[in-house]
Amino acid sequence: MAVVFKPTHVQRKALALVKGGAKHILLFGGSRSGKTTVLVMVIIFRALMYAGSRHLICRYRAKDARSSVLRETLLPWLNNTIGSNGYNYLAHESMITLYNGSEIWIGGLGDREQADKILGHEYNTIYFNEISQLSYAAVTTAYSRLAMKVPGCRNLFLYDCNPGSPLHWAYRIFIRKQQFLNGDPLVKPELYVSMILNPEDNKINLPDDYISDVLDALPEKQKARFKDGAWVKSEGVIYEKFDESMILKAADMPAGYDRIAAGQDFGLNITNVKIGWVGDVIYVLADYGAFNMTTLSFNEELTARGWFIQSFPTYCDPAGGERIQEITGGVKANNSVDSGIDFINAKIERGQFFVADSCTGVLSEIWDYCRDEAGEIVKVNDHFMDALRYAVFSDVQMGVIVS
Ligand SMILES: Nc1ncnc2c1ncn2[C@@H]1O[C@H](COP(=O)(O)OP(=O)(O)OP(=O)(O)O)[C@@H](O)[C@H]1O
Ligand SMILES: [Mg+2]
Repeated sequence: MAVVFKPTHVQRKALALVKGGAKHILLFGGSRSGKTTVLVMVIIFRALMYAGSRHLICRYRAKDARSSVLRETLLPWLNNTIGSNGYNYLAHESMITLYNGSEIWIGGLGDREQADKILGHEYNTIYFNEISQLSYAAVTTAYSRLAMKVPGCRNLFLYDCNPGSPLHWAYRIFIRKQQFLNGDPLVKPELYVSMILNPEDNKINLPDDYISDVLDALPEKQKARFKDGAWVKSEGVIYEKFDESMILKAADMPAGYDRIAAGQDFGLNITNVKIGWVGDVIYVLADYGAFNMTTLSFNEELTARGWFIQSFPTYCDPAGGERIQEITGGVKANNSVDSGIDFINAKIERGQFFVADSCTGVLSEIWDYCRDEAGEIVKVNDHFMDALRYAVFSDVQMGVIVS
């Protein structure tokens, strides 16, 4: 029997927001609040309305996109709306073709092969699911792919997430309405809109005891995020004691440093963090990250940015192998994760750790870098955190810095 999509009151508002003329639409809020369902419905409507159009749904891990978006939401709602004869799911392509020639692609931006595959096409809609896990570099790399032309169809970026920390890039752009990289006001703020959806608003579609027995029982910070949709530091955040008073404007940074070093992380998200020491105090001077870039091009980009104006060691992810030689001043980093973290935390607690406000990569990750309930570091959105640790701790370990 066909099930008709009945939007909740707030989903109705979200639909109005999508139609309202903005280009970037973020739905954030607590868990099970109906964010993904309404955005998937938007994609289905658009795919049906504009024959031959193409839409992408992506998140960090392709397997999460397939389980939580494709199987739990997209396929059931396609079955409800156009029925199983109205579309064809090509599992090996992670792609759905509709009877009118429109396509819906599903994938992950977290591994190179997947990213290359999905970014090899042009789209009318790109929906970034759970952006708290995606780096700003990954998202902006996908921006150029919103280039498909279908008459009458206004191309859109859709985003959803459970809120991250108030230092996360999405908070800066959508809530504070600032450009991510320099903090200036957005040039066209009207193109960026966001809306909060909470589980309370979706009560009708949730098990009776979900809010009272599951969400109300969460520890305080998790409850703030997952029930109330608040942008707060995560539970188990590793650099818990870092606070906003440690973020310095350029004018408040020292004029010179006793010593400079950098840390380099490799991977699909490639990052570099540069630090300076004055006595025992660490200043994070600059950071740069890119998505899906070769090490050589990345180093050229750093050079073009005047990165290597001084000469200093760049401590690189020891797993980088031959790539280490492609980085100016590249040497193997010390990769003792727990000791490195303890060292940085001790610096933070003693008031000996500062970050320039231009270091958007480090800042965007520092309050979301956390351990899970089992005490394991959550290996998501940690690219600048690794580079920072290589920079700081390798110097110390090699006895260059006596602390
Ligand atoms: N309009 C609707 N009609 C029927 N069921 C709905 C509707 N909206 C949401 N649901 C159901 O509510 C539940 C939560 O919805 P959804 O997955 O969209 O929430 P979410 O905000 O994306 O959650 P999460 O934060 O966990 O990603 C799902 O079981 C979904 O099927
Ligand atoms: Mg969701």
